[in-house]
Amino acid sequence: MDYKKSVVYEIYPKSFCDTKGTGVGDLKGITSKLDYLQNLGVDYLWLCPFFVSPQVDNGYDVEDYYSIDPRYGTMEDFEELARKAEKRGIGLMLDMVFNHTSDRHIWFRKALKGDPYYKNFYIFKKGKEGGGAPTNWQSRFGGSAWEYVPEFDEYYLHLYAMQQPDLNWENPDVRAEVEKVVRFWMEKGVKGFRFDVINQVSKKAYEDDPDGDGTPMFTDGPRIHEFLKELNEQSFGRDPEIITVGEMAATKMESCFRYANPEEHELTMVFSFHHMRADFAGDQKWVLAPVDFMGFKKIMFSWQTKMAEHGSWNALFLDNHDQPRIVSRFGSEDEYWKESAKMLGTLYQLLRGTPFIYQGEELGMTNGDFKELSDYRDVESINNFHILTEKGLSPSDALRILQKHSRDNARTPMQWSSEKHAGFSQGEPWMKVNPNYERINAQAELLDEDSVFHYYRQLIQLRKQYEVVSDGDVRPLGLEDERVFAFERSLGEESLVVICNFYGRDYTWKGELDLSQYQILLSNYPEHEILDNAVWLKPFEAVVLYRKGEQDE
Ligand code: GLC
Repeated sequence: MDYKKSVVYEIYPKSFCDTKGTGVGDLKGITSKLDYLQNLGVDYLWLCPFFVSPQVDNGYDVEDYYSIDPRYGTMEDFEELARKAEKRGIGLMLDMVFNHTSDRHIWFRKALKGDPYYKNFYIFKKGKEGGGAPTNWQSRFGGSAWEYVPEFDEYYLHLYAMQQPDLNWENPDVRAEVEKVVRFWMEKGVKGFRFDVINQVSKKAYEDDPDGDGTPMFTDGPRIHEFLKELNEQSFGRDPEIITVGEMAATKMESCFRYANPEEHELTMVFSFHHMRADFAGDQKWVLAPVDFMGFKKIMFSWQTKMAEHGSWNALFLDNHDQPRIVSRFGSEDEYWKESAKMLGTLYQLLRGTPFIYQGEELGMTNGDFKELSDYRDVESINNFHILTEKGLSPSDALRILQKHSRDNARTPMQWSSEKHAGFSQGEPWMKVNPNYERINAQAELLDEDSVFHYYRQLIQLRKQYEVVSDGDVRPLGLEDERVFAFERSLGEESLVVICNFYGRDYTWKGELDLSQYQILLSNYPEHEILDNAVWLKPFEAVVLYRKGEQDE
């Protein structure tokens, strides 16, 4: 399948569909929704980790890469899912977490017992002379990235939770184990892989970071390209059908030129996150800050144009399991909920790259309705609540920040119907269902031709029907415009123009193109006012215009 024409749908199994009444989603639940997914038109399902795990980080702490966590089902369930998906032309993409394992993984348990072979699978270091952790690096989830082990008088590194010790990729035996895991799942017929925080596996030097939390010391490190090439050669690169995406935390674009260039034989494409900081204060996530639209636009366009110049490929997304819901973030939850959900979909689905839809985004699902700390499940959010209150913030102010930035916003159970628990489970869901499920749910949207769901179906079809969407060049339009995100895609004489009003107010947009030659392919409003190069946009309006190439006429 051509990855340029493909659309990936991300599933967070825990919150997708529960068939057993345990309150936790399962693999059979995913199988039961394959018709829905086929109807939507997606080509791949990225499944977040379902391997055996103590679930400290909802499965991103893997205890056994070869077995399915019984909470989610059995290997037979997985094989059935793969088979039935394939029948519908849908491939499975697995989420491989290789920067770290769970502290319950047998390798780490042996390491802690002092087995030298397995100790070298992880990163143990002596503390500083005079005491304290080996470096000043901070865990992504708050606090020091080092945990002291009194038996060894040493610390081990964990860039994430304490229960997620980092693997030592410098050790060739670790890399060989990782490659073996990938080959195992390839044999099960898996068609793609997503590699979790893969650009952090090569560490530069175990030294203090004078300016911050250590990020430059372990991001896009000195051997990362070598490691990726080896992984490619020893595993997925052996099957040209397989597509891969690397999650690139705090990455540099120059590194991504290589990660995602076909000639480098590393990965098919990359996720970068700089555009997701548009409502941070600089690098600070745990604060309240307005959306910096111009900053967002600049970053998006710079990744679009520069990756294209280097022949490298982007993964496109606005929602995922680590991000609050985009419609709550950049759109509207009330008056223009539907219009803004459609506009945001238009914006990223038609850029140059492969789009990733996150479960529920195609319904316009909004942020969770969390009132108190006990409503939260996410280790990052809970840790940061404590950090904020220890710094002197009142619990209610800290909760306000969590309400905006917590990853749990995206992890509320999928809203299938207006039945109890949104049709997600017969039992008590592991996380609070958003009470707006009576209004926002798949059942209702399937029946409504004007729904966000049907709009997403149309967006996906545009990528399949128009080569200019999958293969065209990209050119920003009106870079300085403070209200509108607009761009042109072109292929030969063929041209597609996408104009998105980012705000809930009317606005007249003027561009340099003569739009009288164009026809309307898609829009989130039934009527339009377009004259030559001007468009009268309604709140959150999105318009997709198309002009055929002369040779096709
Ligand atoms: C990635 C995952 C996230 C997880 C982290 C640690 O960022 O997307 O959910 O917590 O890696 O594995």
